[in-house]
Amino acid sequence: MKKGRFIVLEGIDGSGTTTHSNKLADYLKSKNYEVIVTQEPSEGPIGKTIRDYLFHGWGSPAVHALLFAADRVEHTEKVIKPLLERGVIVISDRYIESSIVYQTAEGLDTCWIEEINKFIVEPDLTIYLDVDPEVALDRKKGMRDTFERVEFLKKVRRIYLERAKDKDYPIMNTNRPIEVVHKEIVRCVESYLSR
Ligand SMILES: Nc1ncnc2c1ncn2[C@@H]1O[C@H](COP(=O)(O)OP(=O)(O)OP(=O)(O)O)[C@@H](O)[C@H]1O
Ligand SMILES: [Mg+2]
Repeated sequence: MKKGRFIVLEGIDGSGTTTHSNKLADYLKSKNYEVIVTQEPSEGPIGKTIRDYLFHGWGSPAVHALLFAADRVEHTEKVIKPLLERGVIVISDRYIESSIVYQTAEGLDTCWIEEINKFIVEPDLTIYLDVDPEVALDRKKGMRDTFERVEFLKKVRRIYLERAKDKDYPIMNTNRPIEVVHKEIVRCVESYLSR
């Protein structure tokens, strides 16, 4: 029986999902909630394989989709569900939307991706962080993996925006300063928690 809340932050590479997952968790902890941040790819063995795979750029879209789906089953069963059952607020830095958006951007169809992800826990709240891909890549600098190319990220962003509008996910413009975005995310989450 699920008692906790499951919040997911989504967005293109460099949109700030890690920054804002951590800042949101710190804020909620300061309000005495029990909160855990987790992320995808996970820290488990499949997550490590994915990082290695993406870093070396041996990309086949179907392999990406299957690896991410396998990692998500393990992450959900071993980490997310037990925490939710304990009543914890779980914040995941990426989840199912990342698979749907990145792998449809790579040419796969949504139905198949949803099918191989049928063991997920539905997030209670998904927040989409929207940023200009050029700004995002500029913030990241350093090493880039398979997905971190501007043309590809433009496509990914377009799909994220379409889905966010379709699914009514709150959209945060992360071209703005971190603290401004953080306050808006806090408002959104507080309004959700008080419902
Ligand atoms: N609104 C912002 N303004 C300026 N810099 C930002 C903003 N948001 C994030 N950053 C900076 O951009 C960099 C990337 O942010 P972050 O790691 O949170 O992005 P991410 O979406 O998790 O990226 P990745 O896809 O690599 O996991 C960090 O150095 C972070 O401090
Ligand atoms: Mg990150």
